[in-house]
Amino acid sequence: MSETVGDDANVSAAVADWGREEVQGVWDPGRKLLRAVRRYQRLRGKRGPWARLMRKYWVLNHWFWSLVTQSEIHLNTEIGGGLRLTHPTGIIIHPDARIGPNCMIFQQVTLAGPVVLGGHVDVGAGAKLIAPLTVGDHAVIGANAVVTRDVPPGATVAGIPAKVISGPGPAERTPG
Ligand SMILES: CC(C)(COP(=O)(O)OP(=O)(O)OC[C@H]1O[C@@H](n2cnc3c(N)ncnc32)[C@H](O)[C@@H]1OP(=O)(O)O)[C@@H](O)C(=O)NCCC(=O)NCCS
Repeated sequence: MSETVGDDANVSAAVADWGREEVQGVWDPGRKLLRAVRRYQRLRGKRGPWARLMRKYWVLNHWFWSLVTQSEIHLNTEIGGGLRLTHPTGIIIHPDARIGPNCMIFQQVTLAGPVVLGGHVDVGAGAKLIAPLTVGDHAVIGANAVVTRDVPPGATVAGIPAKVISGPGPAERTPG
């Protein structure tokens, strides 16, 4: 399983690979933060004292891992399965952002506002995506990019403001 941005062409943009989220060992802050979100969402809308108690537990657990990672991933954010938070520090995701299956987000990334990530989108370290915008399936966002426009499927964008540096042909390119 690759830990490098845009390095794994075999990852699906549609079918979630939940194995990517499996907690590995006691110290696994990114996956544990995500697990708190998943467990909380599973309990949403459930009635009874046990569900209420467990919701409270996962809220506290989420608070703890948010503190450890200095990240803000809201408990109600819509996140497709198989998200990887590689080097999980300083990741800020707006509650209205939507993330497709099998994405990968590196450290210090911000999804500002209702950004929509397609499936299998890799976001390099320090990138800032400023809504409203949509990123197509299998796209790659370069380190420290500031993305202000839609990114076509399969494109790699980089720079400030981000421009397509490889991927779909010029006719399909929207940014820049
Ligand atoms: C965007 C990225 C995927 C492109 O990789 P690539 O396809 O191999 O691209 P290249 O290295 O061939 O670069 C192509 C051009 O884009 C430029 N470029 C590449 N990445 C860039 C970036 N992040 N910001 C600005 N320009 C960038 C290169 O300077 C080069 O410009 P040139 O053609 O004028 O010489 C990669 O550079 C990147 O940013 N990866 C993220 C890595 C990361 O965050 N890792 C986290 C580790 S903890």
